[in-house]
Amino acid sequence: MLARTVSSIIDGQRRPDAAGGKSASVDPAHTDEVVAEVRLADTATFVDACRVARETQRTWSAVPAPVRGRAVGQLGRLVEDNKEVLARLVTREIGKPYAEALGEVQEVIDTAEFFLGEGRRLYGQTVPSEMPDKQLFTFRVPVGVAAVVTAGNFPVAVPAWYLVPALLCGNTVVWKPADYTPAVGEALAELFLHAGFPAGAVNVVFADGPTTFTGLSAALDAGLVDKVGFTGSSEVGRRIGELCGRHLQTPCLELGGKNPLVVMPDADLDLAVEGALFSGFGTAGQRCTSLGTVIVHEAVHGAFLDRFTAAVESAPVGDPMADVLYGPMISQRFCDRFLGWLDLVEGHHRLLGSPGVGRITADNPRPGFVGDPDAGLYCHPTIVDGVTPKDELYRSETFGPIVGVASFADFDEAVALANGHGYGLSAAIYTSSPRAVFRFRERVSAGMVSVNNSTSGAEAHLPFGGNGKSGNGGRLSGRWVLDQFTRWQSMNWDYAGRLQKAQMDTPAVTADRSFRLPG
Ligand code: UN1
Repeated sequence: MLARTVSSIIDGQRRPDAAGGKSASVDPAHTDEVVAEVRLADTATFVDACRVARETQRTWSAVPAPVRGRAVGQLGRLVEDNKEVLARLVTREIGKPYAEALGEVQEVIDTAEFFLGEGRRLYGQTVPSEMPDKQLFTFRVPVGVAAVVTAGNFPVAVPAWYLVPALLCGNTVVWKPADYTPAVGEALAELFLHAGFPAGAVNVVFADGPTTFTGLSAALDAGLVDKVGFTGSSEVGRRIGELCGRHLQTPCLELGGKNPLVVMPDADLDLAVEGALFSGFGTAGQRCTSLGTVIVHEAVHGAFLDRFTAAVESAPVGDPMADVLYGPMISQRFCDRFLGWLDLVEGHHRLLGSPGVGRITADNPRPGFVGDPDAGLYCHPTIVDGVTPKDELYRSETFGPIVGVASFADFDEAVALANGHGYGLSAAIYTSSPRAVFRFRERVSAGMVSVNNSTSGAEAHLPFGGNGKSGNGGRLSGRWVLDQFTRWQSMNWDYAGRLQKAQMDTPAVTADRSFRLPG
């Protein structure tokens, strides 16, 4: 297959000048195949895109919300008609198993379906006034221009979580996809541009991280960006938060996780193993909702570990177009970083799950591997038993196929372990006790809690987001994300024909405060 050449799209026009240099994405399952060459933009191009978005926003926000919703509905149908092609491209560019890639594309369709209807709601309220002949109202007002920077592990679903509600609410967008997913980025952009949104409402800029940051900073200085959405590492999220804070803006930050899965002594262990396997190793552990540490009650630690080890040992890894638990790492960069995190394994840890650690190769093989391991960036699954809160591995997000196992003696200890790392994205508990479920929900710091289910697998209409190092409290998805992309405007209308002063001209109702019931 011939590699395509991808460049930024601003106001519907390709910008192939590559003022920011060039790079290429490679199929991580066949590293000798280039998927796309990308001409990167420079800072000025990023600012240009924001200027176009600013100019388009006035006209786009004047389009009635139900009509904007129609464009969202058309996007959903267009994505549905292109579902397999888009999913295959996702698999080709980041190595996500095809079945999961189909699921991810479905998440875009689900998001569009939800927001199609929101175009006919986008409700404001009528509120009673404390004075007669006066009425109060609230309206949702679009924020303006949204700059959205997304990671490439969910190269279509996560961008859609931002772009769809942002556009529906009457904002325009500058989207910076991950620089390692240009082919998917361009494909999704094309679908948006053919769905009926005006060209200048969806602008796509391919740029590297530092250029994006300076571009964002310059666009904020020029007053061209009103909202930043960012999904990525906590480290970069912190810098974006600082930058936006200087402009009195609250970005929507969706950051990392160290997601715990607590196994209580009364848990269905086979179910817990299934959940740990999927959330720990699905997408090769490269989800922000991936399982970090299994926290198992000491009474079932041995039984859980035996079953978990057997499940991981026999799980098929390999060719992402085949029926595998997981395929390659997303890109060389992700692979190298993961191999670095393996250094966090310490002497007191016990490694299980595969005969080797690190890269799967002909010389470091994994039984049952599907395909040719040397053709791609494949890594062994690794279970690390004996994790304690003192370990660096307990605290650090390790984006890859590695899962820690810790044990606890009582519920308080389980909660402390589930929270102690400072992230707060997703947490799971396996138990048959409603009391444990609700106590866990109440005390865990995570923004999302799963009961007898894995830490990943969010649905497109439930709030998604984290606390602590996982984010600044913003929530994507469902109607909750409307608060990211609109601001409340309140209006009061006095039709009394004279000035009525709030708190001063309010009609009185008097009570006899000396009244007491007969003792
Ligand atoms: C992410 O990894 O950034 O719930 C998002 C899930 C997915 C989304 C993950 N639907 O695991």
